[in-house]
Amino acid sequence: MQEIVKKKEIKGLLFDLDGVIVDTAKYHYLAWKKLADDMGIPFTTGNNERLKGVSRKRSLEIILEIGNLSLSEEEKEKNCEKKNALYLTYIKQLTEEEVLPGVRKFLTEARAKGYKIALGSASRNAVLILDRLGIKELFDEIIDGNAVSKAKPDPEVFIMGAKSLKVPYDNCIVFEDAAAGIEAAHNAGMFAVGIGSSENLPQADLLLPGLNNITIEEICKRLQEVRK
Ligand code: G6P
Ligand code: MG
Repeated sequence: MQEIVKKKEIKGLLFDLDGVIVDTAKYHYLAWKKLADDMGIPFTTGNNERLKGVSRKRSLEIILEIGNLSLSEEEKEKNCEKKNALYLTYIKQLTEEEVLPGVRKFLTEARAKGYKIALGSASRNAVLILDRLGIKELFDEIIDGNAVSKAKPDPEVFIMGAKSLKVPYDNCIVFEDAAAGIEAAHNAGMFAVGIGSSENLPQADLLLPGLNNITIEEICKRLQEVRK
């Protein structure tokens, strides 16, 4: 990898949504919590960590595992719909102020410098969320949960993202807050910048607390240094 950072120019930036661009985890939690309460399943914010980067259906299955409950496929489907309806009541009230610190500036500057930018998210609500935040136009391409069939750590979402940007995989950096997303980036042969702590993201090539007060050049420089 170190040779790649040195020799190849970074041209494509792929962003996860939840936890990188906006903190929607708190709204996912509130919606799942209501469902869990209704089913008599104890569900905590600690448990919610396990749902980050995980698909809607798999999230429900994790909650059912916590409660030692099983449901038919049909009931699972109904519960996922119920959860999403509740989640949407929160998402529809999202405001532009909820974009995480520094994200709008980082994206705007990177675009102005000629980087190609794509979203790579498991969420099927991604377009609505970007719209609410007023940042949809900052993305050249949007690959979301409606476009992919395989969940992270499968690299599908990032491979589709790089292809749609017409940038080779090893010229891309992925920004992710979930371990499965870091793994997906590596599975695609891309660099992975972790947004979070080394405790949660030990495999990241570089760790950042967020995208505030940092430029893309600084990130490329640090990736080089880490890999020396
Ligand atoms: C992201 C979030 C997950 C969520 C998934 C599906 O990966 O981190 O917590 O379950 O998207 O989101 P959706 O909006 O389609 O239910
Ligand atoms: Mg995420």
